[in-house]
Amino acid sequence: MVERVGVVGCGLMGAGIAEVSARAGLDVVVVESSEAAASAGRTRLEKSLARAEAKGKIANGESAADVLARIRVATSLGELVDRDLVVEAIVEDEAAKVELFKKLDRIVAAPDAILASNTSSIPIMKLGVVTTRPQQVMGIHFFNPVPVLQLVELVPSLLTGADTTERARSFVEGTLGKQAIDCQDRAGFVVNALLVPFILSAIRMYESGFASAEDIDRGLVLGAAHPQGPLALADLIGLDTTKAVAESLYEEFKEPLYAAPPLLNRMVDAGLLGRKTGRGFYTY
Ligand code: NAI
Repeated sequence: MVERVGVVGCGLMGAGIAEVSARAGLDVVVVESSEAAASAGRTRLEKSLARAEAKGKIANGESAADVLARIRVATSLGELVDRDLVVEAIVEDEAAKVELFKKLDRIVAAPDAILASNTSSIPIMKLGVVTTRPQQVMGIHFFNPVPVLQLVELVPSLLTGADTTERARSFVEGTLGKQAIDCQDRAGFVVNALLVPFILSAIRMYESGFASAEDIDRGLVLGAAHPQGPLALADLIGLDTTKAVAESLYEEFKEPLYAAPPLLNRMVDAGLLGRKTGRGFYTY
């Protein structure tokens, strides 16, 4: 049973993973890279839980404060020593994740602890092989916003033990009440391998002047019943993350449809990262 959860990174995804774990009654430690980032992470958690409380979404008659009391935001990875499961949710950068998995392998003490990554596109094997326990390393890939979206992709590498995958399934489906699909360890797994080339095609269409951002998005919302259009979705994901995922997919498959369009690269260079910076394809 997973009872003590660790999360590394308290950004968009890490805060969401910490929140759903604490709302399911688990004890959570989240580690950020600096005091400033930890403080931003705490604010993110407080705001999201306040929204959930206002909508009456917190279970068991609990308040946002009850849930927050189960989450500790720290700045030292040493705080993860007693965790049963650690989910890494730092930037989508292979070198940074490799360094982190080497450290987690040294720090997390329980011999059967699961070391998971929320990566969208980096092969799980690259993270497993830098540890002494690749049989306990796998992808547990949540979707944004984590408190709202039901899906989690379970991604064992070739070296992941079947018992690790089954414990992760029981955590995701039994404890968190989410729904899992099983994926092979290929860049993008199931959803991003299909979704990212679609978003990139929308960016190319906009970049070519073929249609406005609003009309592209309205087209998919009204004509294909998507809840939001691809450019609004890219802004929600974060254009830096969208670019990083495209690059991992391109690196893996060498298909032009995965190549980041020049406009996406220029927007990231400019710091126009979407909702999180207030401007992307739209202004927020
Ligand atoms: P983000 O930029 O919002 O958050 C990343 C956080 O990690 C930042 O708060 C940063 O301070 C922290 N961080 C960076 N290096 C660290 C380190 N060494 N130790 C501790 N904290 C560190 O990014 P986001 O969107 O939360 O993405 C995180 C991961 O989740 C990435 O691997 C991404 O591909 C994946 N993901 C993102 C989704 C999205 O829609 N944004 C959806 C599903 C997965």
